[in-house]
Amino acid sequence: MNAHAPSTIRPVVVDVHLGPGDLDTALRSDILSGLTTDPKELQPKWLYDERGSDLFDQITRLEEYYPTEAEREILLRHAATIVQRADADTIVELGAGTGDKTRALLDAARDHGRLERFIPFDVSEEYLRSTATTLAGIYPGLLVHGVVGDFDRHLTRIPRGGHRMVVFLGGTIGNYSTAPRAELLGRIVGGMTPGDHFLLGTDLVKDPARLELAYDDPGGVTAAFNKNVLNVLNRELDADFDLGLFDHVARWDAHEEWMDLGLRSRVDQRVRVAALDLDVEFAAGEIMRTEVSAKFRIESFTAELAAVGLHVEHWFTDDNGDFAVSLSVLR
Ligand code: SAH
Ligand code: TRP
Repeated sequence: MNAHAPSTIRPVVVDVHLGPGDLDTALRSDILSGLTTDPKELQPKWLYDERGSDLFDQITRLEEYYPTEAEREILLRHAATIVQRADADTIVELGAGTGDKTRALLDAARDHGRLERFIPFDVSEEYLRSTATTLAGIYPGLLVHGVVGDFDRHLTRIPRGGHRMVVFLGGTIGNYSTAPRAELLGRIVGGMTPGDHFLLGTDLVKDPARLELAYDDPGGVTAAFNKNVLNVLNRELDADFDLGLFDHVARWDAHEEWMDLGLRSRVDQRVRVAALDLDVEFAAGEIMRTEVSAKFRIESFTAELAAVGLHVEHWFTDDNGDFAVSLSVLR
């Protein structure tokens, strides 16, 4: 993308820090602790096996799920300003998924002429590989170096160097509650040097009725996505969850200002998780949390960023005021 780089498609490099063996160990310890605490809670990263990633991709195209289009509108409108301000030779994208919206940034960066390297980071290896290969094909000359890892353990494995912009889209930061979020922001900043930029998508607080529709669409795609985590446990841990005995629940918590996503047991039941030699009891009506999705306010979030040394240069919002993207610089 650099004017002097040859315009050939460069081979994609993918570092895997979460291979099958590591995944298995991490899954076992997470699920064991999640199923034996009260209330039960699963970590959202286990939602994204190949089928889960496909279902999430379908969610992003639902009429009811406004965040994707709102964020895309913002990126398309402001990409030129963003890449100019950041002036980065390296873009790191956390939780890249399909990298679909990222193309607005990469297109603008190509025109800007300074980008050399793109580093997508994701827990989902299949998706990361296909995203890396697709983008390397679209942007000849761009060095694509993917990293398969977990935000909570592998951010230090991201290749160093370069003047960077770290990009974190989709409101995924909202899957962390306040204290873990501050820790995550601290780890992200730990991989940056002063003058580097951070581009972050945050979903905003809004009418709960719209939020509940966005996280519980009438067509049932979101319910299927959420329940798919039980398929992951059945397959990977030899469990015997009956998906028909759980309902998807999506509730607005007005105090925490987050969507609380979970699976509610329809009946009193006992589930066997053979690989953990564990029997788990569920009471009728009991809800096991699978994810929270926090919604933000610009003022308080500006302070959260400031607390880790990030100074917001711009807040961009869509016309509807549904979603916000902040561009901040590390001081
Ligand atoms: N950025 C895309 C995808 C958002 S969905 C968009 O805006 O549409 C969240 C993405 O983060 C998924 O691709 C998922 O695989 C990844 N992810 C979730 N938890 C993760 C974790 N703990 N570590 C690394 N990646 C994670
Ligand atoms: N990170 C997405 C979000 O918070 C993931 C998501 C969308 C999700 N819909 C969901 C997670 C339903 C669990 C259940 O918007």
